[in-house]
Amino acid sequence: MTDQSPLFTPVRLGDIALANRIVMAPMTRSRAPGGVPTALMAEYYAQRAGAGLIVTEGTSPSANGLGYTDIPGLFTPAMVEGWRAVAQAVHAKGGRIVAQVMHTGRIGHPDNMGGLPVVGPSAFAAAGQMFTATGPKDHPVPHALTEAEIEALVADYAAAARNAVAAGLDGVELHAANGYLPNQFLAPNANTRTDRWGGNIEGRARFVLAALDAMVAAIGPGHVGIRLSPGNPFNDIRDEALEATYAHLFAELGRRDFAFLHLFGTQPGFDVPALAARLAGKALILNGGYDRDRAEADLAAGRGAAIAFGTSFLANPDLPERLARRAPLNPPDSASFYGGGAKGYTDYPTLAA
Ligand SMILES: Cc1cc2nc3c(=O)[nH]c(=O)nc-3n(C[C@H](O)[C@H](O)[C@H](O)COP(=O)(O)O)c2cc1C
Repeated sequence: MTDQSPLFTPVRLGDIALANRIVMAPMTRSRAPGGVPTALMAEYYAQRAGAGLIVTEGTSPSANGLGYTDIPGLFTPAMVEGWRAVAQAVHAKGGRIVAQVMHTGRIGHPDNMGGLPVVGPSAFAAAGQMFTATGPKDHPVPHALTEAEIEALVADYAAAARNAVAAGLDGVELHAANGYLPNQFLAPNANTRTDRWGGNIEGRARFVLAALDAMVAAIGPGHVGIRLSPGNPFNDIRDEALEATYAHLFAELGRRDFAFLHLFGTQPGFDVPALAARLAGKALILNGGYDRDRAEADLAAGRGAAIAFGTSFLANPDLPERLARRAPLNPPDSASFYGGGAKGYTDYPTLAA
């Protein structure tokens, strides 16, 4: 691919060397029965190995973090073996792949977790419903995690990072965005704890930082990234002191060594680039509604090191080639996003097909 576009230049995120700056955004596809990645998943990710980096679908560090039906985990030997086949398939095509470690917290349902209780920072149900095998059901009131349970979960994040490396993946991304467990700890409407895991901004940020620190200690800073979505109300997240929350978090992140910060979307009027300036030297991955022109403009302006593409990568296994040629894109079929088999998963055509 000969192209003058900054999208097609190599970049390093920590210890991970990317051939281009096109990242595949993490996307839950609910095709891993029992939490174990399948051969079909290996094929799906290998089809998209032209990305500079693939961030996998959200993958749970523990049994009570598998809140959606058929999402994968990274906490049993069978799961590690499943991911090993995915890593091998992607590496065989020259790609790089990190696991997004996602604990769903209060966004889940016991029906999806073999009856295990849903957990969260505090005993408040999220507004809205969860898809289950027997239809949509209200989010349950979560069990408020005890301090000992929180510490065990932090250890689970570290174990998931070790398992990712054992499976041959290139690292992990801590999912602290979109209203899942770490984001629940950050948000005052989901976290009303009065112990050191809540109470004020420092307390609410403690879980995110503890999970990140544990993962970094487990596999090294060059292989660990973190995803945040400041201002995204998805999954019933509200924070009246948003700017102060993220100012504190970004200042703490600025003191730490890790591979990349992946930012999804922002609230209008909330100046994330200015806050992110506190993260001197950190590589940013930007995401949310990007096309080639906007991606190139943001890279050229130095706003980020790489750009993540979600739905366009889902529907276009050869997205980098299509962007390079300014070729038309297949539209995504939202009816086949979650669950099912090859249809709407591995059967999107390439330009060559
Ligand atoms: C089907 C689907 C599943 C998603 N699952 C996840 C996920 O597991 N973890 C995550 O951080 N974001 C998830 N997202 C959000 C995407 O990573 C991305 O932020 C979003 O699609 C916006 O990027 P885009 O405009 O390029 O599509 C999902 C999005 C879609 C469409």
